[in-house]
Amino acid sequence: MYNPQNIKDKKDIIVLAIESSCDETACAIVKNGREVISSCIATQIEIHRRYGGVVPEIASRNHTMAIESVVNETIEKSNLKIDDIDAIAVTYGAGLLGALLVGVNFAKGLALAWNKPLYAVSHIRGHVAANYINTGLEPPYLCLLASGGHTAVLNVKNYSEVESLASSKDDAAGEAFDKVARVLSLPYPGGPEIQKLAQKGQANISMPCPTFKDGDDLWFSFSGIKTFVINYIHNSEQKGETIVKEDVAASFQEAAVSQLFNTTLNAAKRTGIKEIAIAGGVSANLKLRERFDTLKEKGYKIYYPELKYCTDNAAMIGAEAYYLIKSGAEPSDLSLDAKATVALK
Ligand code: KG4
Ligand code: ZN
Repeated sequence: MYNPQNIKDKKDIIVLAIESSCDETACAIVKNGREVISSCIATQIEIHRRYGGVVPEIASRNHTMAIESVVNETIEKSNLKIDDIDAIAVTYGAGLLGALLVGVNFAKGLALAWNKPLYAVSHIRGHVAANYINTGLEPPYLCLLASGGHTAVLNVKNYSEVESLASSKDDAAGEAFDKVARVLSLPYPGGPEIQKLAQKGQANISMPCPTFKDGDDLWFSFSGIKTFVINYIHNSEQKGETIVKEDVAASFQEAAVSQLFNTTLNAAKRTGIKEIAIAGGVSANLKLRERFDTLKEKGYKIYYPELKYCTDNAAMIGAEAYYLIKSGAEPSDLSLDAKATVALK
């Protein structure tokens, strides 16, 4: 029988991680939380595109069909033997329940069959940990997490302890990109499409953006910008005016990026923390990266994951699992269940 204590103290820890929380079936093998030995992703984007967003039942069914081959391919690509793998990790939440269950059940099966400890990883913490891959980033630092389901500024105090300093009062940033893209008749997922269209436009339409006074609580809100865009398009149509979609995309992106940047910078100034990481699908946005890069000349250190580790992947789950193991966390037993929501911490 395995002994988790031995695993924690091993010089090298190799984790096989599984992620299936939304529309990507992913597996990765990660060494010491920082080195990706192999990583495979079967994406369902094309399937869900025709519905304009992810259809949960279809996602679960496709995870079931893809998971075995994705795991096998990841092991093959790693050139490792099962014996070389120290632990299994799996995203248990947050996400679509039916989709998560496919990964959780497969991971349980592997842990049982191979007699390896099983670690349950939060998808949110996984996104943050994507910043450890191939970088020297170490806590303490601030992390702007901006994905399709969450928007928050996190104070990552150490590998285990995370405090939320700001979160969204309504939509998540990625959700706003997706909804505005839909209004502009762009395909799902909207973020990359808005980014592409915005490159050809001017940010010349003024959009609402929250402002903070000293001492105010920090938060995000994206539903106002989304409603503004919907009204702007309807009003223009009613007046018979032509809408320059490129300008709408550029202006929305500018407003969303400014809000993400300003709230994070506010949190950085208040805490005095000068290392900032960004994470989650929206951290792939080039304008957002550009904006954070401007802080480098002001003495800040800025981190973002490689593009392939910004959106959903299993390498980030393997990275987070390493630090869970190192912290002495207990492995899960076979009663592990999927959770649609998990706490931000
Ligand atoms: O982290 P992620 O893959 O899944 C969740 O955990 O939600 O994030 C997906 C979100 C989608 O809303 C997508 O539109 C957005 O990230 N996204 C982007 C970009 N690439 C993906 N948003 C803005 N710019 C991008 N380049
Ligand atoms: Zn995600």
